Amino acid sequence: MDKLAVLGGEPVRKTPLSFFKVNLGEEETSNVVEVLKSGNLVQTHGKWANLFGELAKEYLGSKYSVIANNGTSTMHLALIALEIGPGDEVICSPLGWISSGTVCLYQNAVPIYADVDPIFGFIDPEDVVKKITPRTKAVSVVHTWGLPADLDPLVEICEERDILIIEDAAEALGATYKNRKVGTIGTFGSFSTVWNKIITTGEGGFLVTDEEDLAKRAKHFGNFAKVPNKGDYFDGLGYNYRMTELMGALGVAQIKMIDHLIEKRQNNADYLTKQIDSLGINGVHPAYQPSYGKGVFWKYTIRLDLVNYKVSRNEIVRALKAEGIQCDAPVLPDNMQPLYENQTVYGTTHCPWDCKYYKGPKEIDYTNMTPIAKEYSDRAIWLTGCGPHLTKVDLDSIVLALEKVLKWYQR
Ligand SMILES: Cc1ncc(COP(=O)(O)O)c(C=O)c1O
Repeated sequence: MDKLAVLGGEPVRKTPLSFFKVNLGEEETSNVVEVLKSGNLVQTHGKWANLFGELAKEYLGSKYSVIANNGTSTMHLALIALEIGPGDEVICSPLGWISSGTVCLYQNAVPIYADVDPIFGFIDPEDVVKKITPRTKAVSVVHTWGLPADLDPLVEICEERDILIIEDAAEALGATYKNRKVGTIGTFGSFSTVWNKIITTGEGGFLVTDEEDLAKRAKHFGNFAKVPNKGDYFDGLGYNYRMTELMGALGVAQIKMIDHLIEKRQNNADYLTKQIDSLGINGVHPAYQPSYGKGVFWKYTIRLDLVNYKVSRNEIVRALKAEGIQCDAPVLPDNMQPLYENQTVYGTTHCPWDCKYYKGPKEIDYTNMTPIAKEYSDRAIWLTGCGPHLTKVDLDSIVLALEKVLKWYQR
């Protein structure tokens, strides 16, 4: 057996394979140059950011879009538009990104985390039911790592109880659930176009919805709550969440490439899955597609049965990195982050938990709220960003390094 690079052997790759790589074409450059020459850099004075919003909503088949400076602002705007605030609870997904919960805190609302299924890491509808209280206003479901979460059971649960669904599809632009694009099934769908996402505008994001009033409200509060055609006149607590024209110009070019980018990602993922399956190694699970939809594999995530290995998941990650594969791994589910241990959000108060409008428990045990998510995050490895830039040689090197490391450490 070849000695592992982490132990002083030869690495599988001499040049490390980067996890993410931005895909930019010629049109991005020419659009950006056009913006610069026009001198209109702000959304309110130009055409590009709005045009990107139009193209995004057409791509998804939604009626309205709201373009913003990132995919955290969009989640925040969704809560503002839905008038979620003090006293309310939102059920969040523990695996994805911290923003799902922080935007609730921005609104002085309380995030409550539901546990996940052990295979995909999607929020588990059965646990959602257990976490619902009279205070629950919305469920925020993440399409984790670019795969579509199973929405029908959640829709049924939420419709029966008049609870809204916000789809956090930041990682999953173009993924489908029963032939519908994710992000178009909940009241709002939220997307990020930060540099490493399916398409990019550097930073950036957008919301989609079919409800005109909600779209108007989200747009209004993302533009300072400034009333149109009235000068400097503001009718609420607004934010500057506008996208710049430079970002919009990138987005317009990027969204034209999306089908091609996604096809490459899906082919890469299919290839990796076949190759990993054919290794016949015990205790490794490739990133399978859920039967009801198609993912876009923002991160290609494998899971290990740790009983099969002599070392921890983190040591396996370290060994893979030494082989030249820049993989990564989750650290903690969002609810186990120090943010929720410290609970110091608004100065020295204990709001939103101590907010006089909040009638839920003052002490919430965030640490033990999602044991399956904790187990998932201890055994998962993000093997690659699975991006369109990967060649067959790159993919083969990933599989080779995985085989080398897992066989070395196998019990
Ligand atoms: C699931 C999820 N939600 C929200 C965000 C936040 O998006 P942004 O970084 O654009 O604020 C991200 C990623 O960055 C994400 O992965």
